[in-house]
Amino acid sequence: MWGGRFAAEPSALMQRINASIPIDKRLWRDDVAGSRAHAAMLRDCGILSAQDAEAILRGLDTIAAEFERNGVAEDLALEDIHMHVEHRLAELIGPAAGRLHTARSRNDQVATDFRLWVREASREAVAVIRHFQAVLVELADAHADTVMPGFTHLQTAQPVTLGHHLLAYYEMLRRDASRFAAALTRLDECPLGAAALAGTGFPIDREATARALGFARPTANSLDSVSDRDFALDYLAAAAQCSLHLSRLAEELIIWSSAPFGFVRLPDTFSTGSSIMPQKRNPDAAELVRGHSGRISGALVSLMTTMKGLPLAYSKDMQDDKAPVFEAHDLLMLSLEALAGMVGTTEFDKARLRAAAEQGFSTATDLADWLVREANVPFREAHHITGRAVRAAEERGRGLADLSLEELRGIDPRIDERVFGVLTVDASVASRLSYGGTAPQRVREQVAAARQALAAATP
Ligand code: ARG
Repeated sequence: MWGGRFAAEPSALMQRINASIPIDKRLWRDDVAGSRAHAAMLRDCGILSAQDAEAILRGLDTIAAEFERNGVAEDLALEDIHMHVEHRLAELIGPAAGRLHTARSRNDQVATDFRLWVREASREAVAVIRHFQAVLVELADAHADTVMPGFTHLQTAQPVTLGHHLLAYYEMLRRDASRFAAALTRLDECPLGAAALAGTGFPIDREATARALGFARPTANSLDSVSDRDFALDYLAAAAQCSLHLSRLAEELIIWSSAPFGFVRLPDTFSTGSSIMPQKRNPDAAELVRGHSGRISGALVSLMTTMKGLPLAYSKDMQDDKAPVFEAHDLLMLSLEALAGMVGTTEFDKARLRAAAEQGFSTATDLADWLVREANVPFREAHHITGRAVRAAEERGRGLADLSLEELRGIDPRIDERVFGVLTVDASVASRLSYGGTAPQRVREQVAAARQALAAATP
């Protein structure tokens, strides 16, 4: 490839450290697409004869068919996917293959290929996220009035509905999808034609190649074009944040499936057994989703660290951009699909959830709110009175709603029998009607809105 200037072959070690084919062969479709667009443009601009262009385009089609059928046979001597394609093209059509590289460089070529790949990956991420959202919405509908404890500090705080809890993850995923979508709008510029770093003296048409490859426009600065990996970092940042959300849900499933909680029974299909303890059902899939999240955010840090010290324009360090993105994408798709499968088939133990919601004096706030509303007590004082009621119940080993009216009036005489209407967990959740609140009615409205949003989302 650059043999003209060199008298000796690279050492075997040099080849090993230099070659990227084991990783970048995943770009072969994008590389062929980029070369097709480039060849057609060279022809239309009169830089390549119609005959050579024809041979090149046919050759590229043959290569695509071969790779589709047999995969890419790795040859370290051919370094990367770009050289593999070009080398095979030369075998197929002879010297005309050497004209394809006119007015381009591997620097703008790889930047273009990688953008095409990340574009597809981002679209896939959005689609898989939407599928998971749909699973959550249906489950939220089924559990719009299933009562469970809501926690802060992992201490029972107030009763909430399971539907509401599940829709919290719907919201996180909605933002995740929008982050990938936003990344796609910034990615939408084509670096092809920036050549090595300075542009080219050939009369190329960058608008034409950008259009042919489905980009909105060509990139505006040739130095930036070949040294920019923001699009990959945008992808990784979106992926890291999405995987962080998945990890939190995985963590909850792990806690909920433990015997002391017993909120869920994980399906056989997503649990593993223990080789020594026959009673065990382990939430391995959820644990791996939680673990993979570390690797995905690690991928973001890895590429940021690679990029941060590089002078303009291209440096070979940038060849290390693909492995973290490929790994993160594979792990994210797997995590999304596994967690969607797991959540969709998990059985929630409604009786356990309700019993847990009734523990821990979860309706204490409702008592305080009642005193404010019905007895015109300032909230701070109502909080104090309620604290005494909780202590009294605790001393007697009972719940708040199990105290007698006399006992409650002994704490504050302004309390009357109407208070029992707010001390049950059902009354508590039903009263939380503020916009975004946990009341079953609000949850059903959010389910309807979510269904509409998902149906309207462009694929
Ligand atoms: N395999 C290289 C990469 O992925 C392609 C670009 C090589 N450019 C160069 N100037 N050596 O970064």
